[in-house]
Amino acid sequence: MHGNVAIDGPAGAGKSTVARLLAQKLGYLYIDTGAMYRALTWKALQLGIDLSDEEKLVSLAVVTTIKLENTAGGTIKVYCDGVDVTAAIRQEKVSNHVSIVARIPGVRRRLVELQRQMAASNRVVMDGRDIGTNVLPEAPYKFFLTASLEERARRRYQELIVSGREVDLETIKEEIRRRDARDSQREVDPLQPAPDAEIIDTTNMGVDEVVSKLVELIKARTKDPLQSSCLR
Ligand code: CDP
Repeated sequence: MHGNVAIDGPAGAGKSTVARLLAQKLGYLYIDTGAMYRALTWKALQLGIDLSDEEKLVSLAVVTTIKLENTAGGTIKVYCDGVDVTAAIRQEKVSNHVSIVARIPGVRRRLVELQRQMAASNRVVMDGRDIGTNVLPEAPYKFFLTASLEERARRRYQELIVSGREVDLETIKEEIRRRDARDSQREVDPLQPAPDAEIIDTTNMGVDEVVSKLVELIKARTKDPLQSSCLR
């Protein structure tokens, strides 16, 4: 039985940072499934594909190679057909279109298949929207991270400002709100907590605090003493 960890939640809840640090602590592989949907969206935009053409996007998903690499420094690199797209997939243009691509059932089938393959041969911390409900329903540890819309927008704003972008807080808030609505209301694998997920409101919590809380919860639920001794 794998000790996989599934982390879901809306945009800007801090999933990626928390999941990456938790994976480092546990010595697991970190899989950022959002980066995979972003990479495909980036490619579709590059090729000028009409995003309402579902068939074309499904074919694109089937022929595209997406690779995630955990580097020794603890960061992750994302490759699309061998091209390093780590920075490109964070562009606002990609952020604003990704949930349109991600709601297509055939696209999801393809990417979920890749995600399950990665989890079959490694112990993983995987983050996304449907990990606990659909990708890894058997994962023994499931968390759903949330925070108020204001706080999530503030965090995203801060990130973008630090990376030198000129952005407006209200615009960011509106974009996040729209993306969350699309992710929660879509027909296939909508954003929602798995019935057995622990819901954690991170509005007033720092990253290290959230990571420590998850480690504590995992330890408390881990019956196998060998497994819990791996947790620092
Ligand atoms: O990091 P951020 O919260 O901005 O989002 P992300 O994790 O990079 O995911 C980007 C988008 O991909 C989400 O808004 C969803 O539309 C889609 N996604 C999904 O549908 N299913 C997943 N498992 C992960 C992401």
